[in-house]
Amino acid sequence: MRSNRFVYIRTFGCQQNEADSETILGICETRGFLPTEQMEEADLILFNTCAVREHAELKALSTTGQLKHLKEKNPALKIGLCGCMVQQEHRKEDVKNKYPYVDFCFGTNMMPRLGEILDEVLSSSKRRFYIEDYKENPGAICEGLPVERKFSYKAYVSIMYGCNNFCTYCIVPYVRGRERSREPEKIVNEVEKLIRSGCKEITLLGQNVNSYGKDLPSPLSFAELLDRICQIQGDYVVKFMTSHPKDATLALFDVMAKYPQMERHFHLPIQSGSDVILKKMNRHYTAKDFFALCDALRERMPEIAITTDIIVGFPGETEEDFRQTLAAMEQCRFDGVFSFIYSPRKGTPAAELPGRLPEEVLKDRMARLLELQQKIATENNEKLIGKTLRALCEGESKTDAAFLSARTDSGKLIHFPKPEGEDLTGQYVQIKIREARAIMLIGEKQK
Ligand code: 5AD
Ligand code: SF4
Repeated sequence: MRSNRFVYIRTFGCQQNEADSETILGICETRGFLPTEQMEEADLILFNTCAVREHAELKALSTTGQLKHLKEKNPALKIGLCGCMVQQEHRKEDVKNKYPYVDFCFGTNMMPRLGEILDEVLSSSKRRFYIEDYKENPGAICEGLPVERKFSYKAYVSIMYGCNNFCTYCIVPYVRGRERSREPEKIVNEVEKLIRSGCKEITLLGQNVNSYGKDLPSPLSFAELLDRICQIQGDYVVKFMTSHPKDATLALFDVMAKYPQMERHFHLPIQSGSDVILKKMNRHYTAKDFFALCDALRERMPEIAITTDIIVGFPGETEEDFRQTLAAMEQCRFDGVFSFIYSPRKGTPAAELPGRLPEEVLKDRMARLLELQQKIATENNEKLIGKTLRALCEGESKTDAAFLSARTDSGKLIHFPKPEGEDLTGQYVQIKIREARAIMLIGEKQK
């Protein structure tokens, strides 16, 4: 008999899910499981799913379909689905009815109970569904749970969970519950420990970090939290994800500018450049408000990279609305744009709106957006040619093994030729930029 049991986890979706998977793995280890990259040798397979767009759900479901033959080969195998997709009632029913080889599901609020859940699932053959409804429960705060971190030199630290904004297109508030913040002392302690252990890059996570602390017994702003974190001595960079423009404050920008260890990058999702659409999205700012935020950031930190998210084809988006989005891109000169075709999410207000756009219009708008973004990002990056930038090496490039990848303090990706016999992963390097593309820079390591 084998003494070791193995768990395989696959994560779909955002950084919060990546972070959750590290906790899930930590909890599995307390039950005697070792992680494996080989699905075939696993005794427990977990898919941590995403619900933000239909495409992500379909991918998780089709990948789940491929597990059927593994279960047939090994009936003792336990298969579990977790995360945002199964948190939705209709998807839970789909799994119950159409995927009989899935043994259990658990929602996004189950982390503190996961140890017991695993004990129950592993000791019986009954199918189980552990989903708690956020209409009745605001959600848990994960504190003191074991975490098995994927990297030693970079780490995610959740500072808050959930979202209260209810943007009309978004499923997140329904599947992740209400905003709840961790105590600042606990966050600062966790970050301090990571930095002491040699971690170089800390990414603070929350659906909307700018509303951090509003729910605490003694409220504290996100800017104040950053100020406390930046008191920690050491050689590191602090990043954060994601910000809502309506809550981004000048005090936050001031704190960033004050500390060189704050990443020179701000991800600020605009979603649309049309005030009519922004209103229908329930975003609570105008395009002009957004431009003022970009100006305020660049005034304080001229070297800052600003990236954004844009949704193309929100219901009722006219050609004029879309042109305003393109105009906003010209105005803000984003360093990166994550663009998404609107995907109706069951149960959200926007899914009930008239004015869905035909496929050709969506494709045409997306192509025009991408072309403009390619031009702007290349022009921005060309300004960096000849400069020497500090970057954290992340190991071999995914596209060419002769190159290493590194990220600058402004979050830009650099590829540079791999020096012979030197493992630079997790170290800072100085790189002179030779070439610029839209999504990456190419350079040479300086001695
Ligand atoms: N359709 C398309 N994109 C969406 N996003 C969120 N919900 C949807 C949806 N229903 C995008 C937003 C958000 C990013 C994480 O995903 O741009 O900022
Ligand atoms: Fe979704 Fe809006 Fe909350 Fe972001 S802020 S998670 S887009 S509801």
